[in-house]
This record gives sequence, C-alpha cells and structure tokens, in this order.
Amino acid sequence: MLSILEANFRGEKYPIYISDNAIKHLSIHLQSLKNNYLIICDDVFKNKKKHPDDKFTNILKNSRVLYYKAGIKNKTSKYADKIIQFFYKNNISRDCAIISIGGGVVGDIVAFAASIYHRGLKLIHVPTSMTSMIDSSIGGKTGFNRYDVVNLCGTYFHPKSSFIDTRFLKTLSQRDFSSGLAEIIKKAIIFDEELFDYLIKNKDDILKLTPKIIYETIVKSVKIKLLITSSDEKESNQRLLLNYGHTFGQALEGYFGINQKFLTHGEAVSLGIIAASKLVDKKYKLNTLNTNKNLLKNFKLPTNFSDLKIKNKININNLIKNLNNDKKRTIHGIRFIVSKKKGTGQIIYEKNKDLIKQSFKSILS
Ligand SMILES: NC(=O)c1ccc[n+]([C@@H]2O[C@H](COP(=O)([O-])OP(=O)(O)OC[C@H]3O[C@@H](n4cnc5c(N)ncnc54)[C@H](O)[C@@H]3O)[C@@H](O)[C@H]2O)c1
Repeated sequence: MLSILEANFRGEKYPIYISDNAIKHLSIHLQSLKNNYLIICDDVFKNKKKHPDDKFTNILKNSRVLYYKAGIKNKTSKYADKIIQFFYKNNISRDCAIISIGGGVVGDIVAFAASIYHRGLKLIHVPTSMTSMIDSSIGGKTGFNRYDVVNLCGTYFHPKSSFIDTRFLKTLSQRDFSSGLAEIIKKAIIFDEELFDYLIKNKDDILKLTPKIIYETIVKSVKIKLLITSSDEKESNQRLLLNYGHTFGQALEGYFGINQKFLTHGEAVSLGIIAASKLVDKKYKLNTLNTNKNLLKNFKLPTNFSDLKIKNKININNLIKNLNNDKKRTIHGIRFIVSKKKGTGQIIYEKNKDLIKQSFKSILS
C-alpha cells in the first residue's frame, strides 16, 4: 500500500508518502542525502519496542540525532533554542536537511526552528502520532507556546517531503489515538459525507488498526486537509471551517490551561462538536446532535464532562467568559462553525447568550 500525494502550496510542491512501509522510502531518501541531514526525534523512540522495523532502528543508529522530550510543557522557546543550538554545533549549511520524527509537538517546534535557521532549511516530516499524520504536519503552521498561550509564536513553513508510516500508530496510547481521530471526525462532519459514512462502517477496523482500513482513513483525511489548506494557506473561509468544534473547544482548553493532562486538544474538539451541534439544533430546529454524538462515542471520545477524569465542578460562567475573551468575538456576535447537515459546514455569528449557555450545558451533566 502506497500513496504519494502531491501537496501544492502556492506552487511550492512536495510529496507526501503514505504507506504501511514508508520508512523504506525515507531510508532511500536519506541515503541520497549522503549524511547531510540531522534528525530531531521524539524521545519515545529511544525505546526500540516503539520502532516499526529494523530499518528505522538503523536510521537512528547511523544518524546524528537529537532526542526531544515531547509533551506540551516542552513546546517552549527554550526547546526551540536547544534545537537551534544542535544545528549550530553541527555547523550545518543551508542545504542540510532537518528530519523531524514525532508527534505534533516535535513537528511544530522543529519546523519552527528549521524555518528561521539560516532563514530556512530543508525540512522533512515523519509524523508518528495520529494528530501529526493527518493534521499538524500538513498546512505549514509551525510554533511554540509562550505565556501559557498555545502556539503564540510561529511561522508558516512547508516541508520538502513527508513520510507517513501507519505502523507507528501501533504503539500510540489509546487516548492520543482517539484525540487524533477527533480531527478526522471533525473533517468528515464539516466537509465529507462519504468519509462520515466510511467512519461509521469501518469503526471496528479503525480501532483495531486493520492496516488497509487505517491506511485508507489516513489517505482520505490527508487529502481533505490538503484540499482545504492548499486553496488558501492563511485563514480563508474554507480553512476557517476546520475550526469546527474549536470555539467551544478552546473555551474549555482555556479553562484547563495549557497542561493537557485533564483534557487533550482532541477531547476538547469532541466536546466542542457536541456543544456546536446543540447550538445548531436549537437555533434551526434540527436534529444533528445524536448522530454526531454516536460517531464520537464509537471512537472512544468524550461527549460529556462525566466521560473525563475531572473531579472539579465546572463553572459555566467562566467558560462563557473565555468565549467572550476570544478573538472570534465580533460586533455581529461570537463566530461559530456549525454543520446543519453531515458533510457541510458554515460560519455563523451568535449573540444569544442563553443559547450559548444551553449549548455549554449539553456537555455538563
Ligand atoms: N501545526 C498545526 O497545524 C497543528 C495542528 C494540530 C495540532 N498541532 C499541535 O500538535 C500538538 C499535538 O500533537 P500530538 O497529539 O501528536 O501530541 P504530542 O506530540 O505530544 O504526542 C502525543 C504523545 O504521543 C507520543 N508519541 C508520538 N508518537 C508516538 C508513537 N508512534 N508511539 C508511542 N507514542 C508516541 C508523544 O511522545 C507524546 O507523549 C499540539 O502541540 C498542537 O498545538 C499543530
């Protein structure tokens, strides 16, 4: 199984290899670079048991590697500087390739460092988590957190190629896997009715990581992200639709802070989708909530706070305050992305505080 998709960002084209054996293609590519590359790798791969095959083990053994301790608390300027120091100590020139191997945290920060060193190096992404495979490694956003604000600093910078090897998913925790799936479900609801039906039909095989199904799921999802982000790299209307579930979701994330121990980004999106479904159902007298809820539940995602390991009582007024502080607030009301019908999305502005409160209440038992 192999797909080589072409990313095209304003004429800047590069290949994305998706395969259950993409490491083979990465290895061939690295040989052609004749050691003129550096690897920054998530430190989970210090553990050989997490390697998809011996080829991967050999790549790490025979290369100059900086291991990076992933986790949101390390997505900082301090770590960006450590990566820059690694570049500097290796005395690299502008044509040196930088290989980022890991989840979204490693991918975002390595891409940031690569984008500014010598005003831009050759970047290659090897995403290893679900979120990084289908989302963060595509679209060119790089960054790190600062002052407890997620991705406060960053650049737009695309890789020269990406290698997605689906076997990496075998060692990912259930929680991180489901969090990545939330992004796929979001795209299905808002853009692609066929993907929506595909997810329902193949839910068991997706959760079991059946190679053919997981490969197809990732190919479909990467294609959507490419379609949306290639049409307009910056925040166009189409790209804004990718924020489905995020307006409510980010208010929740703001509530729990930058530490994702209690609530991961994917879980916040899942709860955000429920609240957005409630909003659209109430406003337009529809019935989308149950279908969306079932889809999320199938993939072990939370649809209510009671599904999370959070003991504290949630203060709804604080959640609303977070919405009001958001950059999505305009004179027409707060901007929400909603889906009136599966496979479609639109932007609406809502001023009705009561409706917004009821939407939040739908996820608080
Ligand atoms: N650039 C973008 O457009 C974009 C989009 C979405 C998310 N993001 C960013 O992505 C980050 C979240 O990504 P994430 O969920 O991958 O988080 P992450 O990088 O923290 O990875 C989650 C956990 O999985 C581990 N891991 C990664 N691959 C593994 C594997 N194959 N086997 C076992 N463990 C593995 C990591 O060490 C980490 O503990 C956030 O920082 C977010 O801001 C960026």
